[in-house]
Amino acid sequence: MLELSRTVRFCLSPDAGDAELPRDNTFSAWPPMRGLGRYYELHVTCRGEADPETGYFINIKHIDTAVRDHALPILRAAVDDEVRAAAMPMGALLRDLVAALQPALGYRVARLSLQLTPLIAFAMEPAAMDHVLIAQQYEFSAAHRLHVAALSDEENVATFGKCNNPAGHGHNYRVRVTVRGPVDPAGHTLDVATLDTAIDRLVIDKLDHKHLNEDVPAFAELNPSVENIVRVVWDMLAPKLASATSPGVSLDEVTVWETGKTSCTYRGPQTTSGR
Ligand code: NI
Repeated sequence: MLELSRTVRFCLSPDAGDAELPRDNTFSAWPPMRGLGRYYELHVTCRGEADPETGYFINIKHIDTAVRDHALPILRAAVDDEVRAAAMPMGALLRDLVAALQPALGYRVARLSLQLTPLIAFAMEPAAMDHVLIAQQYEFSAAHRLHVAALSDEENVATFGKCNNPAGHGHNYRVRVTVRGPVDPAGHTLDVATLDTAIDRLVIDKLDHKHLNEDVPAFAELNPSVENIVRVVWDMLAPKLASATSPGVSLDEVTVWETGKTSCTYRGPQTTSGR
């Protein structure tokens, strides 16, 4: 089984004339930005098997057309509704988008993710339309020293190099937390401000401007590598997330970037097969 993902970028500006605008830079966005238009991305993940002759499972142009023909009118109407009324219930919006795209794409959509800003996305999986996935990003600055007490000084230097510097060194860490939250009958789901407050209290407050080895109990005897940091963040969040936000909210995935080039993702302890 293959998963093919396609990103479609578009701007929602006043509607008149969009259809006539040239499509010379769909890489950037189509419809293109006009005035103070709203920029979004839809990430469409389809699941299936490739045709043995063409090597294609689904034509990506078909995904682009489906999004622009079927999803854009829904989003444009949603923006108009929101301007007139209250904040859009994101669960309802995603259900409408999935319902519009599935028949157009042969019911092969496995996940639809609406990137609202460069940092936050709301997603829905057709197999679980009663929940949304919210991915939001955070940052903290911290010092750490990579050092294992069981190794000799020479072995620590050989393994960790400059990262074993006795006084430590610093990083600006980036964290992406993905949570799964229930959708109520009106389409409402966990709001972002509640999520942000919970992550700030449970994680960022405890790590930001700290020396991880010295100030954070979880690293008293645990080497603060990015691999261990992502697991510690998971453990800080997973047991308390529902009580800190809303019943039924659970942790789906955590990614920690130590630098722009290095990240680690954790999706929780693997369930054992019973062997
Ligand atoms: Ni480091």
